[in-house]
Amino acid sequence: MFSGRITPEQLRGRLAPGGPWVDLVCLGTTDSTNGVAMEMAEAGAPHGTVVVADGQTGGRGRHGRRWVSPPGRNVYASLIVRPEMPVSEASGLSLAAGVALADAAERAGVPALLKWPNDLYLGDRKAAGILVETAVGQGGARHAVVGVGINVNLAGDEIPAEIRGKATSLRIRAGREFSRAEVLALFLDAFARRYAEFAAGGFKAIHPAWERRDMLRGRRVLVLRAGEEARGVALGVAGDGALRFRPDASGAEERLFSGEILEFETILSREAKDTGCFS
Ligand code: BTN
Repeated sequence: MFSGRITPEQLRGRLAPGGPWVDLVCLGTTDSTNGVAMEMAEAGAPHGTVVVADGQTGGRGRHGRRWVSPPGRNVYASLIVRPEMPVSEASGLSLAAGVALADAAERAGVPALLKWPNDLYLGDRKAAGILVETAVGQGGARHAVVGVGINVNLAGDEIPAEIRGKATSLRIRAGREFSRAEVLALFLDAFARRYAEFAAGGFKAIHPAWERRDMLRGRRVLVLRAGEEARGVALGVAGDGALRFRPDASGAEERLFSGEILEFETILSREAKDTGCFS
């Protein structure tokens, strides 16, 4: 029912008036919307350009992984932004985008959590991810592309075996299908609001909205940082966007500005521990 290609008219009809979205480029299946958007940005496309595709043949995920992108099922979109800030601060963009994702899911009626740095989780499974690519110029980021993949109507049997058990979709979680244009418009509106807050006040301005969805706080985690794995406890996200992490080995709090959470203690195993089922 919602598998048709997203059109600029559908999006325009749903977006809040006065937003920054100046150009909505809706493609069929393409290689990667981030790739297309980076090329458009290099060629001078303005801040507020959105590239959305029906499917991707070379969807890019973080850490060089591929992003599963079957046609007609999900949202694959890349936003061109021209942040007037140093590159170091522009890294907060992806955290802001994560908050916008959670806002959008909640507006769609599906409560969501964030896994640092910017994965959207529904329960203990990932439903959306963000890949920010930046081109650096003199004095700061020349432009950035904020790529977002949201599993919207993906069915359980469409999830590849290697990520089954780890991935989910709005449809799987809510038990109904969603309009992909509606979900994308909710995200674009939310991103416009969070971007404005971030541009005015940095990550600190949206820190409370992040903290309220933090799924790792107080959980045991396995972290990959600086090429090494470490077990410990995630203590929350600081006002500058760093992950506060206490490794078992030293017991001294660290602040991680980059890294990856390889494993985390699930709510299920925590509950099982509380009832004595796990040692
Ligand atoms: C992640 O690994 O969690 C990030 C996934 C980002 C995927 C999106 S889909 C739209 C955009 N185009 C891409 O090639 N990647 C991003």
